[in-house]
Amino acid sequence: MNPRVTVIGLGYVGLPTAALLASRGMAVQGVDSNAEVRATLAAGRIHITEAAVEALLERALRAGHFTVHAEPPPADVFIIAVPTPLGPGQAPLLDHVWDATRALAPALRPGNLVLLESTSPIGTTARVGALLRELRPGLTDLAIAYGPERVLPGRILTELVENDRVAGGLTHEATRRAQAFYRLFVRGEVVGTDAATAEMVKLSENAFRDVNIAFANELSLIAARHGLDAWRVIELANRHPRVNILRPGPGVGGHCIAVDPWFLAHGAPQAARLIPAARAVDAAKRAAVLEEASALCTAGERVICLGLAFKADVGDLRESPALDIATELARRHPGQVVVVEPHLPAAPAGLPAPLLPLDQALAGPGALLVLTDHAAFRRIRPEQRAGRRILDTRGLFRDEEDM
Ligand SMILES: NC(=O)c1ccc[n+]([C@@H]2O[C@H](COP(=O)([O-])OP(=O)(O)OC[C@H]3O[C@@H](n4cnc5c(N)ncnc54)[C@H](O)[C@@H]3O)[C@@H](O)[C@H]2O)c1
Repeated sequence: MNPRVTVIGLGYVGLPTAALLASRGMAVQGVDSNAEVRATLAAGRIHITEAAVEALLERALRAGHFTVHAEPPPADVFIIAVPTPLGPGQAPLLDHVWDATRALAPALRPGNLVLLESTSPIGTTARVGALLRELRPGLTDLAIAYGPERVLPGRILTELVENDRVAGGLTHEATRRAQAFYRLFVRGEVVGTDAATAEMVKLSENAFRDVNIAFANELSLIAARHGLDAWRVIELANRHPRVNILRPGPGVGGHCIAVDPWFLAHGAPQAARLIPAARAVDAAKRAAVLEEASALCTAGERVICLGLAFKADVGDLRESPALDIATELARRHPGQVVVVEPHLPAAPAGLPAPLLPLDQALAGPGALLVLTDHAAFRRIRPEQRAGRRILDTRGLFRDEEDM
């Protein structure tokens, strides 16, 4: 029989998970502490930019498979998918995890499975377990496990099903039960391990990408000193069968890769040398892009910033280096900067520059500062670029050149 599932935290991870489980016929009870989020979802609309989720959610609501709650109702399985941001001093802020754990404790029954899916420092699942034992001392037969998410925004519903998954319990039995639950909807392999290993696996994945991108960015700074094309260098180095360098850019953004490495470093500061260095390289790359663009403004140029989002073809501004660079450039050089971001309906609050449609921005003079590799910018014609200075942090225009 299908389990009844309570999902706590209905954002980019929790909401698609809830919608997917409901579409598989499970009774899903979504919980969010934000009343606005609850009202939006109850009306069949969604507050995240993940188009395919809305249709799924609407069907689930109509079929009565999905309900929205302020407090966790009893269930067979509880999934915690609340935010785990950075706090002061780059320390992980786990308040939402503790709040969610306290909130679900009264709803627990013997035999329940509790899955933490929030990206968490090593040892968090054990602390969730300890807190639950403290809050519900008489409760036995509780299975607690960590089940990290690897989904890519824009493809979340596909990746929830297709990706391999790691499930790490506080006990062997908890691992087994977590694996059995995920196998109900995951087509990828569900690999069992212990909770702390699963926590470190998740953090290692994002720290690997951060370090690799920092390496690419450092190569781009070195290549610039020699007048070389970093993308060509990387492309040729990647012809080595055991080399895979990622692409340089204006810096790393998003809520994961720019954040999670600190969770690893914070837990073992004496051992973590490369991870903070990668973060420092990232800051240096952002600063270098800003200085180069600022020099153009100082020389009297208008600068057209192409993109604010942290990655291509979405309007996601979280931790975006593009937004930071454009904002600071416009602040330093009032009236000389315009911004194009086709994935936003209006300029974000605090941006001291006008947001223009691409054609309108290109109708005037100005250097092009490519900050995001949106497909729309690839369509800028050579004659629209002719005669302009171009700072292409993404290698966007060189893709079409003879390589
Ligand atoms: N977004 C991704 O692609 C992604 C991928 C892998 C892992 N993660 C991790 O998953 C976790 C959730 O991320 P997200 O992107 O879904 O966050 P989000 O900000 O999109 O959504 C989180 C939701 O949780 C709600 N919430 C906060 N505290 C709550 C509480 N105590 N009780 C109930 N609801 C609460 C918020 O109102 C919000 O709606 C984070 O740890 C994140 O690092 C995210």
